[in-house]
Amino acid sequence: MERKDVQIPAEALARQREFSGQIRRLFESRQAHPLACVDTFGCQQNVADGQKIQGMLREMGFAFTQEPGEADLVILNTCAVREHAEQRVFGNLGALTHTKKDNPEQVICLCGCMAQEARVSERVKRSYPHVNLVFGPHALWKFPELLWQVYQTRKRVFSVAEEDGTIAEGIPTVREDGVKAWVSIMYGCNNFCSYCIVPYVRGRERSRDPQAVLAEVKELVAAGYKDITLLGQNVNSYGNDREEDYDFADLLAEIDQIPGEYLIRFMSSHPKDATKKLFDTMARCSHVAKQLHLPFQSGNDRVLREMNRRYTRAQYRELVEYARSVMPGLVLTSDVIIGFPGETEAEAMDTISLVDELGFDALFTFIYSPRPGTRAAELPDPVPRAEKQKWFDRLLEVQNAHSAQIHAAYVGKTVRVLVDGESGDEEYPLAARTEGNRLVRLQGDKSLLGQFVNVRITGSNTWALYGRAEG
Ligand code: SAM
Ligand code: SF4
Ligand code: F3S
Repeated sequence: MERKDVQIPAEALARQREFSGQIRRLFESRQAHPLACVDTFGCQQNVADGQKIQGMLREMGFAFTQEPGEADLVILNTCAVREHAEQRVFGNLGALTHTKKDNPEQVICLCGCMAQEARVSERVKRSYPHVNLVFGPHALWKFPELLWQVYQTRKRVFSVAEEDGTIAEGIPTVREDGVKAWVSIMYGCNNFCSYCIVPYVRGRERSRDPQAVLAEVKELVAAGYKDITLLGQNVNSYGNDREEDYDFADLLAEIDQIPGEYLIRFMSSHPKDATKKLFDTMARCSHVAKQLHLPFQSGNDRVLREMNRRYTRAQYRELVEYARSVMPGLVLTSDVIIGFPGETEAEAMDTISLVDELGFDALFTFIYSPRPGTRAAELPDPVPRAEKQKWFDRLLEVQNAHSAQIHAAYVGKTVRVLVDGESGDEEYPLAARTEGNRLVRLQGDKSLLGQFVNVRITGSNTWALYGRAEG
């Protein structure tokens, strides 16, 4: 596919801004002050999309509420990665029949990854007649036009056509606070891990122009953002779809040249494409946090093959060893799936032994959830859920012990943290993150919010560190 086919032309995006203006004028003519409730589920990429939806809504004149009952427009921005997440969304959609009964003018919208699944959009068409608008991630950029259609025609609008996907630059964004920001550097996924729905709902990999990414990061740093996370399903394949010989490590190195006091993180990183060049670049670049999220999913080679992950346990271990050799003190996290179809107890224990061997700072752990349409969902899955739960609990026990031990080693040390929020806890009223993204509950004054400070670590548990601002 040629670049020009991937990029949405500027004129088409300008046209969307006109639709936003039309919606704004519609409300102004009624002297109405519309409220929107945007509820986002799923990964950071979806959070970033939710912030763009909010950006577009703000241009249309909407203010925001957390209360669906008082909203003129309710948006569920959904995730399809596990069955449980989908069930919750259907539950929430069902509950919205009540808010709509109280306010028949309320517009209800389902978007995000679930909306892109034909199975879901058909079910919504059939059984959730109160939903006015359904659009998948591919149609995000034309949200203003779709919403305008709903207001104009009062008919239900579905924009869920399957496609490889596009790139739309310059969509306005509402960021949550002045400290942390998400920057998508690429969209889609080509990896087709056999359990995963993401490639089906997010299309093929397409990388943003490095100049566009650099300009966005520059702007964020100038606006005072201090913790910037670059996003992609597999940032390590950044640039593969572009003509230039320019990869993710090159992008990191160039971002690092932007002057200022800030940290750059990234996620996720697929082990099959992680390179020594990437780790060397991380080690060298002072703005790049010495933190790596490197999902391994399983510690057993047969299961890894069935998952279509394209690396072995030994290769994964070598990567970690190299990364640690060039970045001593590296904070390492990972994703793990227990109970892949056909996984035996011994194979699940291989996963646990790798966790034990490598000592991760934290893990995101999941019990396998079949996703209709993926290859793994067709495989026989004879192990009962209760058995998988036992293996899962054992995994958590091992990991929790590691996390607690790693955290305990911080006690008595002074670390630099970024104060990024309030905690609601009287004794430790501030929340902060270390360079490695470990949570620190902090004693100190609110005036420290948004600043890097040195903190003396005084206590710890499995999930957090506790400390006092110094000086
Ligand atoms: N692209 C990222 C990567 O490859 O590391 C991961 C994206 S996925 C949204 C986040 C995590 O969800 C995966 O790493 C995997 O552990 C988990 N996951 C994905 N599909 C799953 C499924 N069907 N059942 C359980 N966990 C799943
Ligand atoms: Fe899913 Fe694999 Fe792509 Fe990650 S790399 S989004 S786990 S298919
Ligand atoms: Fe993310 Fe869920 Fe979609 S994890 S990419 S929101 S399926």
